[in-house]
Amino acid sequence: MPKIANRRRTLVTGGAGFLGSHLCERLLERGDDVLCVDNFYSGTKDNIAHLLANPHFELVRHDITFPLYLEVDEIYNLGCPASPIHYQYDPVQTTKTSVHGSINMLGLAKRVRARILQASTSEVYGDPEVHPQLESYWGNVNPIGTRACYDEAKRCAETLFFDYHRQHKLEIKVARIFNTYGPRMHPNDGRVVSNFIVQALRGEPITVYGSGGQTRSFCYVDDLIEALLRFMQTPAEHTGPLNVGNPKEFTILELAERVINLTGAKSKIVHQPLPSDDPAQRQPDIAAARKLIDWEPLTPLEAGLEKTIEYFRAQGVGAR
Ligand SMILES: NC(=O)c1ccc[n+]([C@@H]2O[C@H](COP(=O)([O-])OP(=O)(O)OC[C@H]3O[C@@H](n4cnc5c(N)ncnc54)[C@H](O)[C@@H]3O)[C@@H](O)[C@H]2O)c1
Repeated sequence: MPKIANRRRTLVTGGAGFLGSHLCERLLERGDDVLCVDNFYSGTKDNIAHLLANPHFELVRHDITFPLYLEVDEIYNLGCPASPIHYQYDPVQTTKTSVHGSINMLGLAKRVRARILQASTSEVYGDPEVHPQLESYWGNVNPIGTRACYDEAKRCAETLFFDYHRQHKLEIKVARIFNTYGPRMHPNDGRVVSNFIVQALRGEPITVYGSGGQTRSFCYVDDLIEALLRFMQTPAEHTGPLNVGNPKEFTILELAERVINLTGAKSKIVHQPLPSDDPAQRQPDIAAARKLIDWEPLTPLEAGLEKTIEYFRAQGVGAR
């Protein structure tokens, strides 16, 4: 469609969530008109309260499983609960959000000829048999397990993005996001970083599932948002999928120990059985992102953890 507005109009679905709220902030900083669409399933108004007075920020309460008619130039499709506690609470809605939500956002992008980025996930690799995971790896996902509503729906969303690209010549960007952490993570979302910090601040035991020898890589939110912004601006032929995350691996036990040190907590580590389909190892190969968007995560784990701990403290977590 012809460009009439003088500012880029950018739609962020899931804009009131953890990643979405940081993305909205960055888009406003660079001068976009930002439309934040969210149904507050796992996000909150608190995450974007500081943006509401900005005349270039607009909040739309809407469930993306229903069609949406707007005029925009770019779409970042982040709407989808991302933590197992949230996405397993209503698994059918989770699948609908990724599948119907993608169809609706792709339909919108097609109508207004907007470029669209999908927040895909490392979960498309399932419990990977190759390590680290390259974009060319097809994954090892259990299609009928309790994580499938998220993993398989995200895989289907990728399929839809690529079919809209092939069939309707839509400009797409598929980013496969690996574990990201930082301020505004939900305190009760069961994700390992927020779990450990909340438990440590409350002086509760730190729960490690299994031996704690399983590894994860953790990317600080500012680094991740920078990658999404850069990827969106790449020439049209670069569709991805593109891994974005921090390749530096830590065992879950190492993470627990760092959180205990940084918070000064007296918490003990306790072990519990591993949840089903929990991958043993997850590490992105980001060679493609390094080359395409000249990007790599810059925030060391300690620095990112400190900011996240500060955020949870400011939220009153652990206060008596
Ligand atoms: N944080 C991570 O480590 C990570 C890793 C991989 C992929 N991702 C992807 O990034 C995106 C954002 O994740 P996050 O960590 O910010 O999670 P989040 O739960 O904080 O944010 C998701 C947002 O989407 C909203 N939402 C959910 N269903 C919706 C619907 N039907 N209609 C409109 N809005 C809806 C929620 O209310 C929430 O605000 C998700 O798509 C997630 O799958 C995140």
